[in-house]
Amino acid sequence: MKHFLSVKDASNIEALIEQGLRYKKNPYQDQLLGKSKRIGCLFLNPSMRTRLSTQVAAQQLGMEAIVFNIGSEGWALEFAEGAIMNGTTVEHVKDAAPILGQYFDILAIRTFPSLKNREEDYQEKILHQFVKYAGIPILSLESATRHPLQSLADLITIKEEILNHSSNYANRKPRIVLTWAPHIKPLPQCVANSFAEWVNAWGEAEFVITHPKGLELDKQFTEGATVVHNQQEALEKADFIYVKNWSSYQEYGKLIEGNDSWMLTNQSLASTNQAKVMHCLPVRRNVELSDEILDGTQSLVTQQAGNRVWAAQAVLKNLLEQQ
Ligand code: CP
Repeated sequence: MKHFLSVKDASNIEALIEQGLRYKKNPYQDQLLGKSKRIGCLFLNPSMRTRLSTQVAAQQLGMEAIVFNIGSEGWALEFAEGAIMNGTTVEHVKDAAPILGQYFDILAIRTFPSLKNREEDYQEKILHQFVKYAGIPILSLESATRHPLQSLADLITIKEEILNHSSNYANRKPRIVLTWAPHIKPLPQCVANSFAEWVNAWGEAEFVITHPKGLELDKQFTEGATVVHNQQEALEKADFIYVKNWSSYQEYGKLIEGNDSWMLTNQSLASTNQAKVMHCLPVRRNVELSDEILDGTQSLVTQQAGNRVWAAQAVLKNLLEQQ
């Protein structure tokens, strides 16, 4: 693995999942692998889980992890080619990234989309400039269109549940439903895009996506899934329900209002196969997802967030082994 930007960098998804689960049982089995290696974690946007789980994972592999909140503490970066920098930006990525490439062995970056310019966001302009100019492996900590470490943690969580309840899955694949949920702000499509492309590439599920009309995701991520606009129909016999808001891809970045009934409650789960409920967090309680589900026995959200460590550690192992 040269970089980790999307599912395309994972040549064997099942092996990554299994590696994550092995690390969960024995976190320090490769504690010398990253000895004398350093990871720089650059945040252009806020984070709790991604930041801390990546640091913990790196330290368990013997690496030193240095976090730089470049978006709030660093010089304002310019990404436009040929920019005349007489405005608010102070340093061009083509000057900053090669320096970071000398300080670190792996560079991890979190950036969000603008939600204003779809073409630029979907070209992953910021992430690809770090790839171009840093000269070292780049690890995505969430980008304009994807959140691959989250998606790997999601699949680790699903696989863990399947292994713990294997008799429920004898001779059948789990039914996984990705459902849109309401929100008060327009959010990126990254988590939903990424989850969809990972589940499709994994190929071990009956995969359904449900959302109100007008909230279709980019087909490059959803190809292979069944799309249903009736949430209750989609939820029937679900084993796993992944809850996430996203803003419109068609009317790019627009908040689509008037679908508050899409927030799941215990009643929504009645026709499911006692479905386990997932969310990447942070979650707005009683807007995106009800207290009764989040505090109930069918919620996997804490386990899922805990598994972020094992996903990051499995990916870092792969990146270190290529050096
Ligand atoms: N799920 C997730 O990426 O959480 P943070 O924004 O806290 O990193």
